[in-house]
This record gives sequence, structure tokens and C-alpha cells, in this order.
Amino acid sequence: MSLVKANSESIRQAAEIIKCGGLVAFPTETVYGLGADGLNPIAVAKIFEAKRRPSFNPLILHIADKDSLEKFSPTKSEKIDLLIRKFWPGPLTLVLPKSKIIPDIVTSGNPTVAVRMPDHPVALQLIKASGTPIAAPSANRFGHLSPTEAKHVEKYLGDRVDIILDGGKSSVGVESTIIQFYENGFYLLRPGGLSKEEIENEIGKIKTGKIDPHRPSSPGQLSFHYSPNTPLKFFNKKFLDKNKKIGALFFQENKIDFKFAEVKFLSATGDLREAAANLFSHLHELEKSNLDLILVEPIEEKGLGRAIMDRLKKASNKLEQEN
Ligand code: TXA
Ligand code: MG
Repeated sequence: MSLVKANSESIRQAAEIIKCGGLVAFPTETVYGLGADGLNPIAVAKIFEAKRRPSFNPLILHIADKDSLEKFSPTKSEKIDLLIRKFWPGPLTLVLPKSKIIPDIVTSGNPTVAVRMPDHPVALQLIKASGTPIAAPSANRFGHLSPTEAKHVEKYLGDRVDIILDGGKSSVGVESTIIQFYENGFYLLRPGGLSKEEIENEIGKIKTGKIDPHRPSSPGQLSFHYSPNTPLKFFNKKFLDKNKKIGALFFQENKIDFKFAEVKFLSATGDLREAAANLFSHLHELEKSNLDLILVEPIEEKGLGRAIMDRLKKASNKLEQEN
């Protein structure tokens, strides 16, 4: 790791690291971000590994020009245009239906993506030089405060990032405000650096509180956390019923003598980053195959394995609660 003053040379170097799938901590006007190439699922898995978070959380995609938003969300609306014109670059994150090119690990399998254009010259130059949107959570370790100076990042993540760009103190000092577009209106998901009132001055009332999950505008639209509709269980011999269409999700190899309707592997080489990068997309694919049951192999709860197991446990619990 190296902590370097941000200048055109160090930004160019950091952009090379992003292009090669590495991790770069960079300043924004709100807080420092821990960034990776937002279109490279293995690079994004490294973010979760570095944060030592025991679960996945959808990430914000940082872009450097307003026009590129259309590549990442197909949704068009006058209100979105108004918000972007007025508040970007700035501390406002929009949660919108996502385009296919965004890997599932960025959104934790959600059909929506959070996007923002930060108001910081270093962040903007880095994104432009990288030629890709940068997925980044705040650059703190799980459970710690968000960093507003490069030295905070160094203290908590110093040994886990390839480079820290020092761009001085973040001027806003709190995270961005997050709003989700839904049925032509907006919901406030997280208060932050831009006040609700300022947003409402532009587009009228925005709603607070939970979006009603019983009235989805399109299927799956509202699930903040992905969990499959097909029953999902951890392996147990008692579930191996020959009369059922059963799909299997193994970590590395198939150790079970049974005629599965479909078999998927998280990582043939046993690599946890690759496993994390494949997790949501494999679950989506199994889900689409009209199976009676998905059986998954538990994996060791260490490093990224904890976040993977957290997601699998949630998916299996959900069905137990509903049944
Ligand atoms: O100011 C900020 O927003 C900073 C800087 C680095 O940009 N970033 C930041 O990221 O605070 P993070 O990951 O610490 O917080 C992002 C929040 C998380 O609570 C996450 O759940 C939510 O955004 N989020 C991201 N994508 C979402 C989605 N598709 N639906 C709902 N919530 C989402
Ligand atoms: Mg955070």
C-alpha cells in the first residue's frame, strides 16, 4: 500500500490499478471511498474482503459524467433529469432500475443500482482515467466511522488497499443522501449531505419510511436483498428425492452421487473472490430453471466465506419463515 498526494501522476497510477482489478481509496466531497472497477465482479469482491464485512451490501456506482447514467439505468424521467441537472455532481445518490451490464455483486442481486456523480476533482479524474464506473462503499472497516481524511483510511484499511489517494479533508463530511425512484416518485433511503427539503424544492414531496413491498410495480423491484423464490436448503441426504427437480450449488466440486437437474460451482479453483463474484448470478440462474428445490453446499465461514454464508442462510431462512 502507498498513501500518496493526489496529482495527475498518482491519479494515472491509481487508474491503472483500477483497470487491473485492484483497490483504490479515493477522496470524495462526502467521505473517502474504497473503489474498484464497477464492471469487474472479482475486483468488486475484493472490496467486501477488504472491509471484512460479514455480509454483502449493495454498492454505489460512481460516475464522472451525467450522460453516462443511461448506460447503467434504462429508466428515464423528467424528475430524474431535474435532480441530476441541479445536484450532480454532489452528495445525492439515486437508486434506479439497473442495466444488465452491471454485475450482480455490485447490487447484491437487487434489480436496482445506486449511482452518484461525486463533486471532487480527484474522484472525477480517477473515474475518467479508469474508463469505467467505480463501485465504492465508504472506506471504513465494517463497524467503524466513515473516513473523511486519507489518514483515517490508512489506519483501518492501510494494509488492504493498493493505493490511497490523499485529496485533503472531505468538505461535506457525511455520506450522500440516497433516494430511490419508484412509481414516478421518490423514497428517502438514507438522509445525508443534501437535505430532503432541498430535494423537495426541485421535485415536490418525497416519501419516507418503507416502500410497501406488497405493491411492487414490477416483480422483484422492491427486494432490497435477494432471496430466491425456489426453496433453498443446505445439503442434507434427506432432501435427495428422485422425483423432484433439484438443482445444486457447490463451492468447488460435486461430491454427491445424485442426478441433479442442474449443477453450478461457485469457483472451480476454490477461490473465495470468484465464489463471491458468482454467488448472486448463479442463484439467479438456478432460480430461472423452474426447480423444486435448490441445495447448497455450506462453505467455511472465513474471510469472504462469512458474507457468502450470510446470504445463503438468509435465503434458506426466508423460506422457512414463509412455509
Ligand atoms: O457519500 C457516499 O455515499 C459514500 C461515498 C464514498 O460515495 N459512499 C457510501 O457508500 O456511503 P456505502 O456503501 O457506505 O453506503 C451505501 C448505502 C448502503 O447502505 C447500501 O445499502 C445503499 O447505499 N444502497 C446501495 N445500493 C442500493 C440499492 N440498489 N438499493 C437500496 N440501497 C442501496
Ligand atoms: Mg458506509
